[in-house]
Amino acid sequence: MPTKALLTESIHAGADAPLSRIPDIEIDRRSGAVKTGVAGEIADRQLIGIRSRTHLDAEAIGGATELLAIGCFCIGTNQVDLEAAAAQGVPVFNAPFANTRSVAELTLASAVMLLRRIPEKSLGLHRGEWLKTVLGAHEARAKNLGIIGYGNIGSQLSVLASGLGMHVYYYDIEAKLSHGNARAVGTLEELLGLSDVVTLHVPSTELTHGMIDARAIDRMKPGACLINHARGDLVDIDALCEALGSGHLSGAAIDVYPDEPGSRGEAFASPLLAFDNVLLTPHIGGSTVEAQESIGGDVAAKLARYVLEGVTRGSVNVPELDPGALREGRARILSMHRNAPGFLSRLNELVSGLGLNVAAQHLETRGPLGYAATDVEGEPPPDAAESLGELEGAIRTRVLRGG
Ligand code: NAI
Repeated sequence: MPTKALLTESIHAGADAPLSRIPDIEIDRRSGAVKTGVAGEIADRQLIGIRSRTHLDAEAIGGATELLAIGCFCIGTNQVDLEAAAAQGVPVFNAPFANTRSVAELTLASAVMLLRRIPEKSLGLHRGEWLKTVLGAHEARAKNLGIIGYGNIGSQLSVLASGLGMHVYYYDIEAKLSHGNARAVGTLEELLGLSDVVTLHVPSTELTHGMIDARAIDRMKPGACLINHARGDLVDIDALCEALGSGHLSGAAIDVYPDEPGSRGEAFASPLLAFDNVLLTPHIGGSTVEAQESIGGDVAAKLARYVLEGVTRGSVNVPELDPGALREGRARILSMHRNAPGFLSRLNELVSGLGLNVAAQHLETRGPLGYAATDVEGEPPPDAAESLGELEGAIRTRVLRGG
């Protein structure tokens, strides 16, 4: 039986090589999103790859009885009903880190642009104004870069900025390993007070929502710049406009907004448009060809490992399990099941009733779901998956055979 995969929304060809490890795979590629009739499109597919514009709701997932796994070839997974997929034993994979380098590079470039007052000079020239002046233009070397959030992006930025000779400081709520000469500071206030450029790399949470408000901006050095390439709700835009208008801040680079247009044709409005010293970009911090390629390869590799070995590491909705490579001469029983007492003993009883010897067994749970990988010596009968699937509590059962 071939494994049928539907890849929508022009997923990068970087996905092809990992997927082609699956024997007999048939890949059906679409350039656009599947917006209507998605249920019909995926009814007999084992794999579906989407980006942000194809929505998979409970009804669509419920009708896809053959579905093994869903790949979100992007960062977010809001477009998929994750609980519905989990309830059906279908893991959902994404690529949360594949575009982080792209964001870090753009942030460093923006810091250089702001320190040189390039946005206003460039806009001036577009209007025919020759704003040739050294006033307020600085090198990045030996300036203080303050990074809020030292995660994947913040820490990569730290390495790049150190390479330019910047002094890097960061503030994070978790203890982090400092790269190079970067130094952690104990409070946000301290970071704001010492930085020539402050840049945000935190997620949107209750704690970070509006964290750069009028008070925080007041604490920043006069003439400092602010960069927000993280999430639109972190900065109070009115307070930022006030500080840009008064000259307290010399500039800002903003990629994300509280209200973003839903599509390319939709108009963009923001009070920030009034300021020449603001570098505005349309939420493209992570949008590069390299990031797309890396996302394609990353998500496709996760799908292939799930199909071939049952690995769910990196899944956002089911227990994460990596039982390792399946050895020759063994078979692997993969059981997605309800997380309740007794399942494993029922499974093992049935396995031994089939005359199979358990060679290795791995179990992981997550909320209402359990996932077990049982490697057995011996040849499971052809209907083993069916009888194992009838066990009380079983949700999804697959039997893989080693080479
Ligand atoms: P990450 O999860 O690797 O790092 C976030 C860091 O923020 C963690 O170290 C965490 O401990 C820290 N943190 C959380 N709450 C904090 C708080 N209240 N104060 C200080 N630190 C706090 O995330 P990653 O991958 O580095 O992404 C950072 C941000 O960039 C996210 O908001 C993400 O959505 C955004 N992003 C934006 C893109 C764009 O296109 N503009 C593309 C990719 C990511």
